[in-house]
Amino acid sequence: MSSMAKAMTSVTIFILLTAPLSSSSFRDEQDPVPTPWPHQFHSILAMNYTGILEIIDLWYDWPNGRNFNIIQHQLGTILYDLEWNNGTSFFYSLDSSKECSSAQLEVGILRPNWLDGAEYLGQRHVDGFLCNVWNKVDFLLYYEDVVTKRPVHWVFYTGREAHVMTFEVGAVLEDAKWQAPVYCFDKKAETDNQGAEFSITSASVDGLLRGPFRIGM
Ligand SMILES: *[C@@H]1O[C@H](CO)[C@@H](O)[C@H](O)[C@H]1NC(C)=O
Ligand SMILES: *[C@@H]1O[C@H](CO)[C@@H](O)[C@H](O)[C@H]1NC(C)=O
Repeated sequence: MSSMAKAMTSVTIFILLTAPLSSSSFRDEQDPVPTPWPHQFHSILAMNYTGILEIIDLWYDWPNGRNFNIIQHQLGTILYDLEWNNGTSFFYSLDSSKECSSAQLEVGILRPNWLDGAEYLGQRHVDGFLCNVWNKVDFLLYYEDVVTKRPVHWVFYTGREAHVMTFEVGAVLEDAKWQAPVYCFDKKAETDNQGAEFSITSASVDGLLRGPFRIGM
């Protein structure tokens, strides 16, 4: 190889190696990044999946390694979805049906920085708020208020959408409410296959399906 050809090859390799890096660091400097979740908060979410409505009481509690979704179906039952950072989840009712199932996932609860690396899409108006919008691994679109940096809205790739109605930073649910009912432990044998199903889905999106993201996505 002539020295000219060698030099060209080196230049080409140099460009190949550096171009993606410099363009991504350029992008990172320019674009807003999602605000990490507060370590503890309470949020009321209005959910809509093609006209099926639910209210979710979300209690996110990172320091205690737990996350709670209390799901009210419209004029229907309340489903408690209690998640621990060790991967165990309990799904139960507190009514006379005394139903409970549990699942064991390979991932813990969502980390406060779970939105890191999301792709910035620009600004849009949603629910009457001007928001920055990100795409997280083609799994959901996340809308955050430009002014207050609070989450306003997110939409899953399935079309299921969450509207954030309240966002109380620092609110913590009392310990007693995190106790799954005794029949969750009595009927261990009845643990269904949900766990396996969720694990598979979960693994494919890096564990994003936990929290308000998993149930009936
Ligand atoms: C729920 O979403 C559907 C579209 O999937 C829409 O037609 C309907 O108006 C929404 N309902 C509410 C209460 O937002
Ligand atoms: C995870 O933690 C919860 C709450 O302490 C507990 O009930 C559950 O048994 C634990 N799961 C495992 C696999 O240790």
